[in-house]
Amino acid sequence: MCGIVGYIGEGEAQPILLSGLKRLEYRGYDSSGIALISPQKNSISIRKSPGKISALEKLVKSKPLSGLVGIAHTRWATHGAPTQANAHPHHDCSGSIAIVHNGIIENYESLKAQLIKEGHVFNSQTDTEVIVHLIEKFYKNIPLEDAVCKALKLLVGSFAIGIISSKEPNKLIGARLGSPLIVGVGKGENFLASDVPAVLGFTKEVVFLDENEVAILDKDNFKISNLDGKTVFKKTTHINWDIAQAEKAGFAHFMLKEINEQPKILEGLINSRIHKETGRIFFKEQNIPEAKLKAAREIFIVACGTAYHAGMVAKYALESLCGIPAHIDVSSEFRYRDLLIGPDTLVIAISQSGETADTLAGIREAKRRGSTVISICNVLGSTLTRESDGIIYTHAGPEIGVASTKAYTAQLTALYLFAFYLAQVRGILPEARVKKLLDELRKIPGQQIEILKCAKSIAVLARRHSHLGSFLYLGRNINYPSALEGALKLKEISYIPAEGYAAGEMKHGPIALIDEYRAVVCIAPSSKVYEKMVSNIQEIRSRKGKIIAIATDGDREIKELTREVIYIPKTEEIFSPLLVALPLQLLAYHIAVKRGCDVDQPRNLAKSVTVE
Ligand code: AGP
Repeated sequence: MCGIVGYIGEGEAQPILLSGLKRLEYRGYDSSGIALISPQKNSISIRKSPGKISALEKLVKSKPLSGLVGIAHTRWATHGAPTQANAHPHHDCSGSIAIVHNGIIENYESLKAQLIKEGHVFNSQTDTEVIVHLIEKFYKNIPLEDAVCKALKLLVGSFAIGIISSKEPNKLIGARLGSPLIVGVGKGENFLASDVPAVLGFTKEVVFLDENEVAILDKDNFKISNLDGKTVFKKTTHINWDIAQAEKAGFAHFMLKEINEQPKILEGLINSRIHKETGRIFFKEQNIPEAKLKAAREIFIVACGTAYHAGMVAKYALESLCGIPAHIDVSSEFRYRDLLIGPDTLVIAISQSGETADTLAGIREAKRRGSTVISICNVLGSTLTRESDGIIYTHAGPEIGVASTKAYTAQLTALYLFAFYLAQVRGILPEARVKKLLDELRKIPGQQIEILKCAKSIAVLARRHSHLGSFLYLGRNINYPSALEGALKLKEISYIPAEGYAAGEMKHGPIALIDEYRAVVCIAPSSKVYEKMVSNIQEIRSRKGKIIAIATDGDREIKELTREVIYIPKTEEIFSPLLVALPLQLLAYHIAVKRGCDVDQPRNLAKSVTVE
């Protein structure tokens, strides 16, 4: 929900921290701040500002800071409005310790009351400020890292923190529990960051911290320990994508760039998981014994938002291809249910970021009940991947746009491939059928390219409807989740009320909404439920609803019912969500752009919901 960056080295820290913050702005952007240790005065100076990072840049331009050690933060408010006072970094009473934090301290009220009783003075409404005053309380004739560990042991909740102190100016401390934190390993300099893009411009060598680990950095070395100060050996990971991938590559927005990246990403995923000669599916990193997968008697999918919609599609695919019951729930419901799962349940957790608090809590509950957990995730080394029994990476590269696009179709593809893998392990699909289906799957990236070639006409259609005050999305069977996903895309970037519905439910309520002021997006590719969709469209037409249909190339019948048709290539029904997704993404994108919305950083949203 927030982005933190730390630097210790031989260069001026301010520009490095600001550039790192800008690459984390997708994590939260309602206020930001920076703190440096100024070598001359051996004291800490802080600058902070509400609003986006550009506001902070303006502030430090007028009142620059100098120093070789510092921390910085971009915030997505959880406790206290996004004001100057609540912006991070926060400092202790003496002003000699500063902290930045991503996460939520659940017991901060009781800790704050005790600290106030002991004479500490607070300047903000944040939970974070409690941490720095606790450190101050313990920081008496012991090293900074020891005082930090003492403080962290009293916290309940989640944190990724960066800390500096003017009493030990050659030290930068980081620690994490429940929120991501990495060490960037440089030459004569070291970094802390919430995510890899922040350091990629300086180093490709990173260390991913695990839960309850502390990083103690100076400009030439780093040490990782547990909260008891015991050294922990960590391997360094070489990041193989470059900063350019995290840039817009000439597109107007990250979201448009990421929509256009989908064919390449899916092609890479498909080709890297299907053996060229044998046609068998393989997952190097999934590492759950085949016997365990064979023994699973049911599947439970847990995810949030777009990932949840991918999971809904997977439910249809798993049941159809693997003959195994597949249940699904949003993570925030799953984690609090009286779950009837156990050792013979395979739990599939889907998460682009791998840091979604509810999904992490869900898998921890599942593991507590003895279930096996496999995660479908896009972020290497994220918490979800390190707590799952098995992993399938979607390798979609960094998804910077807050509205998920390429991660969604990459999740779908990984889930389809996993379904084939499961069917292969359980030996229940005739080889001829597998071959036919995989041949169709291999065509999808090229078919997506065909759709993207029509992006201009989709943009024109989108703009023609951008004035409408609300949208209804209807789909059936495996495209019912597509309707939910299309509605989510539109609402989260254009702020237009949009609702996804199972088309068969229309007469049970939503039909009351139909009139000439509302657009109804009808997802009607060729399928076993196509005729049912046509009936729905006729019902909408007779009530003057403005119909936008998504249909299969060559379908002339649908053209009789509405002028507004977006065609997609013909594919196996089971794979149609992979194609339907693109017109829905482009529709939402162009409507939002036409309405002047901040497409990449929509209001109130953050890329990763790392708190409940
Ligand atoms: C999708 O466009 C949204 N940004 C949001 O619903 C997202 O899918 C959800 O928060 C889950 O995130 P995750 O995949 O990182 O767990």
